[in-house]
Amino acid sequence: MSLSVQILMQQLFPGEVFTNTADFDTGIRQLLPRYDEILSVITHCLPHEVHRILELGCGTGELSLRILNRCPDTQVVAIDYSPRMLQFAQEKIIAAGYGERWTGVEVDFGDWANHSEELDIDREFDACVSSLAIHHLKDEMKLKLFQRICDSLKEGGCFWNADPILPESPHFAEVYKAVREEWASQQGTSLAQIRTKIGNTSTYGHSNQDQLATLDAHLQMLTKAGFETVAVPWKYYGLAVFGGWTHCNEL
Ligand SMILES: C[S@@+](CC[C@H](N)C(=O)[O-])C[C@H]1O[C@@H](n2cnc3c(N)ncnc32)[C@H](O)[C@@H]1O
Repeated sequence: MSLSVQILMQQLFPGEVFTNTADFDTGIRQLLPRYDEILSVITHCLPHEVHRILELGCGTGELSLRILNRCPDTQVVAIDYSPRMLQFAQEKIIAAGYGERWTGVEVDFGDWANHSEELDIDREFDACVSSLAIHHLKDEMKLKLFQRICDSLKEGGCFWNADPILPESPHFAEVYKAVREEWASQQGTSLAQIRTKIGNTSTYGHSNQDQLATLDAHLQMLTKAGFETVAVPWKYYGLAVFGGWTHCNEL
């Protein structure tokens, strides 16, 4: 079988998105409006004193890289279930000179939520972050994961997550779709063109094709999971950054 046929047939894990991992960093910036702004918002939401951060679904390491660059005293434990994504991230982090402060761990964060996988360096994180990964879990697992995150943070620790959200109405579903099409066109491409680089995914581990929840449902899950204060620092049509603090001293 030729290599190109093998690549075409290769099933990706949900969240890997592009058939070739090397296409991810360019492709995601064409596919999603304001990807860089999303990562910046998460990074800016971190407290000034932050020593240990857990990242869930680190992908190619773009968020890790920003955090390591902005927070010189921070160690990042980054988990992802895809060996391809982890390897890509690790090479990038080492090339940037941050290898000593970054640990990649190949784990399904659903297993971690269920306590069937313990991380070596578990608990007592100052913060947990994630971007564009948790929406692959069904709501029941999202809640379990939020509980596990809450339990793994120090008192006063925070969690910031970026994800696509379920449109609030059929009208907004149309609006959000149009905004993404317009964004792709501004990048000199189209959603149809970008989709030619997107691979097939089916369920893998705890993750599935998109399992979107409304922003309101996310905030309710965070509260139920134990976050004392929840917040939405950023929203742009169908994308949001949201999260909270286990205990908020700042009000
Ligand atoms: C769309 S990518 C986003 C990557 C990165 N956070 C970013 O914003 O560029 C989603 C990542 O989550 C990972 N992922 C999805 N479900 C996962 C799970 N259950 N456990 C661990 N990693 C998962 C995928 O392998 C992929 O690397």
